[in-house]
Amino acid sequence: MVPYAALDCPFSSESMPLFKRTLSEFIFRRFMLKHHASNLLVDMNLEAKQQTLDYIKAKMIDAPFFEKHPALVDYTLGQVRKEGLYLEFGVGRGKSMRWIAPQVDGTVYGFDSFDGIQEYWNGNPVGAFAQKKLPKVPDNVEFQVGYFDATLPGFLEKHTDPVAFLHVDCDLYSSTVTIFDALGSRLQPGAIVLFDEYYNFHRWQEHEFKAFQEFVERSGLRYEYICFSVTGQQVAVRILENPDYAG
Ligand SMILES: C[S@@+](CC[C@H](N)C(=O)[O-])C[C@H]1O[C@@H](n2cnc3c(N)ncnc32)[C@H](O)[C@@H]1O
Repeated sequence: MVPYAALDCPFSSESMPLFKRTLSEFIFRRFMLKHHASNLLVDMNLEAKQQTLDYIKAKMIDAPFFEKHPALVDYTLGQVRKEGLYLEFGVGRGKSMRWIAPQVDGTVYGFDSFDGIQEYWNGNPVGAFAQKKLPKVPDNVEFQVGYFDATLPGFLEKHTDPVAFLHVDCDLYSSTVTIFDALGSRLQPGAIVLFDEYYNFHRWQEHEFKAFQEFVERSGLRYEYICFSVTGQQVAVRILENPDYAG
């Protein structure tokens, strides 16, 4: 290996005082070599970011965008014009539920096994986001504890209203498929769906995005993008027409 000092680099200048050269070298190695030049995550994220930007330009350029996550959630909730069920899939630590529930008059139903994700996802191992105890949430939240495919059928038998607001925050393709399979016929025109991990991360096209697009394809659903995040992964849509809607 060529010693660093032998490289043709401005930081190796003989005229530089020892302390300065050492500090510069430290910064160069730590930030340029370690965190930039040899960290593939940077390039994976940049690639995902470019693909996201292309998608935004093609599909949602006119929609309002947000930098702050809570502001995006507030705006999305303000877009709900229909009566119906408020549902969150993926409650985890309850952070998003603590933003949503205080803005809703009725009950918000929170679905989660609280066992964490059951598949590897985007650098997170199986079991990531598991909770030892139920999170603290406002009084108008009712938990549906268990895997979605186990809790949804009984829930939908008991609660026959259409969906007004749906928050998809379960990360996984398979879990999102379960949600749209079960709720497809409850998505009334005007319903708002907020995705927490729609785009802007490595292989975003394989997860919540894919499950929704497949549902759109097979149901003939029409929707519009109502807002998107420019710093995170959140995107919200309004359902315009749903041939599967049973209302
Ligand atoms: C990223 S966390 C949710 C974060 C949460 N909204 C918050 O703000 O703290 C994802 C959650 O989805 C849950 N989850 C994913 N797939 C599931 C499934 N099929 N059934 C039940 N829970 C699931 C996991 O247990 C995990 O708690």
